[in-house]
Amino acid sequence: MPDNFPQSLEPLANELRKASRVLCLTGAGVSAESGVPTFRDSGGLWEGSRPEDVATPEAFERDPDLVWRFYLARRRNLSSVRPNPAHEVIARFETLFPEFNVVTQNVDGLHQQAGNSRILCLHGDIWIDRCTVCTFERRVEASDGPVPRCDQCGALARPGVVWFGEMLPEGVFEQAVQLAADAQVVLVVGTSSQVYPAASLANVAQQSSAFVAEINPNATPFSDSADLVIPLNAGMVFPELERMLAESGRI
Ligand code: OAD
Repeated sequence: MPDNFPQSLEPLANELRKASRVLCLTGAGVSAESGVPTFRDSGGLWEGSRPEDVATPEAFERDPDLVWRFYLARRRNLSSVRPNPAHEVIARFETLFPEFNVVTQNVDGLHQQAGNSRILCLHGDIWIDRCTVCTFERRVEASDGPVPRCDQCGALARPGVVWFGEMLPEGVFEQAVQLAADAQVVLVVGTSSQVYPAASLANVAQQSSAFVAEINPNATPFSDSADLVIPLNAGMVFPELERMLAESGRI
């Protein structure tokens, strides 16, 4: 444990004590301590497969079976994971602040499982099967077998996630920009800040004078611009932050 922990969190705790509008921007790292692999860390998903082979519309057209196998493996891994202490505190923060929102790049559903309801999913939801032709979609709990077909028109179905080269779900990014522009404190948690447009939200917040803290054990392209960098795991930081706020009567 670093020598100056938890004192190093004090500047962030102070900002949170004064804040009524808080935004939490999350990426794969927030789920790492639940056992969900990230993308770009060593052992991450993009180390084992190239994104262009499994996460583009072209890949799906070329080889739908291969793409589905990749997503079925991810669903299988996710079916046994649970929210970790970071998710749990982030969910309790929703009831603590007058306005606390989550904008996530994750498709794993763990923030929702932990109890967050004010959440925007920029990259979709892995538990949705969506028709490639019509508008039909359905929520699934588990899946196996060959590429599923649409219940309505019989065309191939695909996972309800955003692939490289695709637009984000309609209107969702615009709402996220608004939340970033309105927030007084922004927590950037567990993202390598390399994928756009998600990565631009932290800059939007800073341009609107928010206090932006990055919680990530590794440096990212955003680290130099952050108002505070907390180079630690989210599962260690959030319970301590909650404790500090409770001690000062914020909770
Ligand atoms: P990445 O895999 O790019 O980055 C994960 C980040 O989490 C890294 O910076 C790690 O240092 C950090 N990290 C790891 N463990 C952590 C922990 N316990 N606490 C806090 N941070 C931790 O994942 P994303 O930034 O989410 O998109 O990736 C963005 C997008 O790229 C994903 O949504 C996905 C991917 O390609 C699509 O599939 C469209």
